[in-house]
Amino acid sequence: MRVVILENADQVAGRAASLVLQQVQRKPDSVLGLATGGTPLATYRRLVDAARSGQVAFHQVTTFNLDEYVGLTADHPQSYRTYMRKELFEPAGFDLSRCHLPDGTRVAWEELQRECQSYERQIRESGGIDLQILGIGTDGHIAFNEPGSSLASRTRVKALTEQTRQDNARFFASPDDVPKLAITMGIGTILEARQIVLLATGGQKAKAVHALVEGPLTAQVPASALQMHPQVTVLLDVEAASWLARKDYYQHVEAIQSALESGGQIP
Ligand code: F6R
Repeated sequence: MRVVILENADQVAGRAASLVLQQVQRKPDSVLGLATGGTPLATYRRLVDAARSGQVAFHQVTTFNLDEYVGLTADHPQSYRTYMRKELFEPAGFDLSRCHLPDGTRVAWEELQRECQSYERQIRESGGIDLQILGIGTDGHIAFNEPGSSLASRTRVKALTEQTRQDNARFFASPDDVPKLAITMGIGTILEARQIVLLATGGQKAKAVHALVEGPLTAQVPASALQMHPQVTVLLDVEAASWLARKDYYQHVEAIQSALESGGQIP
């Protein structure tokens, strides 16, 4: 796990955007896994700017979002489909026919089950995710894999914890409007991505980040499953890194790694 501690949220967005740009410039028909929420917004703004200035073209890229609420219409202002169209897909010139989110408009249980299986199949048939962007919940969730989720789980319907519903209430008119269920990629699904980049900013994420990086591997902290993945970069601002016990070591490793990557000597 590569732990990168940056000065502020703006630098986190800059680093995340440049990892996505490198991926798409290297492979224009990349398959990206995408997250919603507050954290990746600044990264998406940078990707939009890069597309508008001609640095990159996204029209051949295929995307799979991590999750979608169950029970909101597709054009509901708080659906993740609406968020992605508005914040990234339309302004950055993605081909909408290549952009996938689970369909949470279905309500019958059997239809939801079929939708989860079909989402897994579509990811497989696309050749798998090259680069997956993740955020982290204050309760340690990734996507909507809440504490207690199987570390081998696949795309399925999950009930949101009260903590997650409270955290997400800021996007809704009233806390009661936050849906109780979501379709989410599983932890096993996420771990199949070839490269993973997790972003966390702000002191409210510090405890979860500590558990992700330094805690034991446990289903009680779904993000800790990332310890099993060989290509994970964790991009943090100073506040999100504030609970890490081995901060100095991560900074030392990062100084060596970036010097070597830019063709320099071991510092
Ligand atoms: C969203 C998602 C969630 C968020 C997490 C953090 O697609 O999968 O796991 O990444 O809840 O959300 P923010 O960034 O709003 O703090």
